[in-house]
Amino acid sequence: MKRLITSFLGILLALSVRANEGMWLPFLLENNIGEMSEMGLHLSADDIYSINQQCLSSAVVGFVDLDRPYSHFCSGSVISALGLVITNHHCGLSVVQQHSSLENDYITNGFWAMNQAEELGGNDIGVCFLRRMEDVTAQVLEGVSDTMTIKRRNEVINSNISQIESRVSDSTGLKAHVDAFYCNNEYYLSVYEIFEDVRLVGTPPISVGKFGGDTDNWVWPRHTGDFTIFRIYADSLNRPAKYSAENVPYRASNYLKINAKEKHEGDFVMLMGYPGTTNEYLPSFAIAATQDVYDPIVVSGRGKSIDIIKERMRADKAVMIKYTSKVASLANAWKKLDGERRGLAAKRVIEKKRERERLMSEWITADAARTEKYGTLLDDYTKEYAVYQKYRRAKLQIDETFYKSEMINLCSDIRTILQSGSSDEEKRTKIVGWLRDFYADYDLKTDLAVTQMLELEYLENADTLYVPNSLRGAVGFIGGLTGKLLQKSLLADSTKAFATFRNYTQKSRKKIENDPLFKFTAEIDAAYSNIKTPMQKSLKKTDDFQRLFMQLQRECFADKRFFPDANSTFRVAYGQISGYRPTDAVSYAPFTTLGGVIEKCDLDVYDYTVPDRLKQLSEARDFGPYCNADSSLTVCFLSTCHTTGGNSGSPAFDADGNLIGLNFDRVWEGTMSDLQFDADICCNICLDIRFVLFFIDKYAGARHLIDEMEIVKD
Ligand code: ARG
Ligand code: ASP
Repeated sequence: MKRLITSFLGILLALSVRANEGMWLPFLLENNIGEMSEMGLHLSADDIYSINQQCLSSAVVGFVDLDRPYSHFCSGSVISALGLVITNHHCGLSVVQQHSSLENDYITNGFWAMNQAEELGGNDIGVCFLRRMEDVTAQVLEGVSDTMTIKRRNEVINSNISQIESRVSDSTGLKAHVDAFYCNNEYYLSVYEIFEDVRLVGTPPISVGKFGGDTDNWVWPRHTGDFTIFRIYADSLNRPAKYSAENVPYRASNYLKINAKEKHEGDFVMLMGYPGTTNEYLPSFAIAATQDVYDPIVVSGRGKSIDIIKERMRADKAVMIKYTSKVASLANAWKKLDGERRGLAAKRVIEKKRERERLMSEWITADAARTEKYGTLLDDYTKEYAVYQKYRRAKLQIDETFYKSEMINLCSDIRTILQSGSSDEEKRTKIVGWLRDFYADYDLKTDLAVTQMLELEYLENADTLYVPNSLRGAVGFIGGLTGKLLQKSLLADSTKAFATFRNYTQKSRKKIENDPLFKFTAEIDAAYSNIKTPMQKSLKKTDDFQRLFMQLQRECFADKRFFPDANSTFRVAYGQISGYRPTDAVSYAPFTTLGGVIEKCDLDVYDYTVPDRLKQLSEARDFGPYCNADSSLTVCFLSTCHTTGGNSGSPAFDADGNLIGLNFDRVWEGTMSDLQFDADICCNICLDIRFVLFFIDKYAGARHLIDEMEIVKD
């Protein structure tokens, strides 16, 4: 009997484990809706996504850089009939920075437009709405056969994809994009409407929006007020339009209603948005390479760069403004990958994957047809991956050393365009534009210190086979070459650089290419492409093995429900509000409060400064209608949804589809979820919408924005 109970518990556990894993497709939710209802959802699949647009997904947006409209860097949602959009502070930080200066320091002080005329436009970001999604696998694979070469296969697929994309884009005026799913086994079409005039409406000071900074980043308990508000503008016919004074606020056909009530542990949570990349179905040897080779390269170089940059930021206020957003993105990946490799090791993911591969091998050998199809797959894939890994390591070392030197990176971009077929006029305009952006945020002293440190690291660790020629003699020996080149270059002097490139003609090219830094960068670029070309060739082969390996997993474990890896397309995830147990005898509660912000406050630590006004509001317990029954104010909550980078700003919904928070992070122990989701430790962190409302209302005094929103009453 006892055994029966234990195995029943085992099954229950397995079910609940599966319940939270996965980023599901909106148009295939029928497969999940039963489970979601059992977990507490009150909506139908059509309420969540449908073509007729009267559904929650039509109020969810992806944030894009205008020059990369299908790579969503963050998510957000529309919260008023006049196009107010809410996302994370860290998603809007580069826009805030563009509008900030020493005189108008919106990063430090925050910014609130008190009317529409004060909203700040001219930004290079846009938001997209998903208007429709469908399976086009059959059309994309038309003309493809199993006996084709990889090259031919890709050609046929790419040509089919372009035809579908242009047919849909031409006939609808919307933007169509086809993406590969299940490691190139299936293809789905997404149709987007992209708005290009998105203006900054309000943002808290960075001490709130990034409270806890890089110390608390990826960590629970968390107390960060990570939100920013934008507004979408459209032309007079409510259509997407480039930024213009003539544009008017977008009249949203659908927007989210807000549930500002207190939440409880166990409440159902659903998230929607644009998760970027996951790789859940890789073989054990690819996980081993990530854990032991790739992640350590990035973690080591970036960790040291961050220390140097932060030292400079503390010493110089101008450097602080210029490097705030740069250091944030360096630090973010550094810490995530450090958590990832530790989590992979702690959860013995390599061993678990090996065991699955053993089961797959048994399954293959048990049947002649399977042996015919998959008999040599694992061996072939292992061998090819070893080739790929060698190149990838070498490429990563150059990426993380030389292209992390700001000036070498710029120099390399300039070299590429000088060698391109563009006209002199085009070259001048492009390069001068880059120079403008570059010098606006540049500090030579900081770049020098970082570059010199990275070069030393490289000389110690790089595989001598791939080291660029002029550094070759220096291997195993003190470096310092690159730093000197930086100082001597024409790019070290902005006046000289502008003069050179404003007057650029084909005739000046020789002289520029003789600049010592340009010469050195030419060598780096050459070493890089010597690695990249064979790496890409090998990658095509490993990708094709991965396609078959994915197919094998789906056939071998046929009763498991597989979600397709994240690929920057629209997804739905669900779970519940819940704490977790990171290690033995440690247990975390799922809510944090403003009291915790005050506890953490430490004026000597930059990450933990709290604005006086927030302290006063906390002391006076002036939380308005947003306070909890025990008169505390919730800041963040934890839930068990499967998320990744790109899900930042994703709306968190309650069981009725009302907005209760904004996703912005995951917990440190669970950042391995991009490679292996583990329900024991993989949690996502949300900002509670009550804190957002409190802040706008009580701190910023921007009541007009609250009045625009619809807050649900009982
Ligand atoms: N880790 C989160 C994400 O990947 C939040 C990053 C911004 N916050 C910060 N403290 N750097 O985007
Ligand atoms: N913070 C991430 C983002 O910006 C979310 C995550 O990786 O969990 O999208």
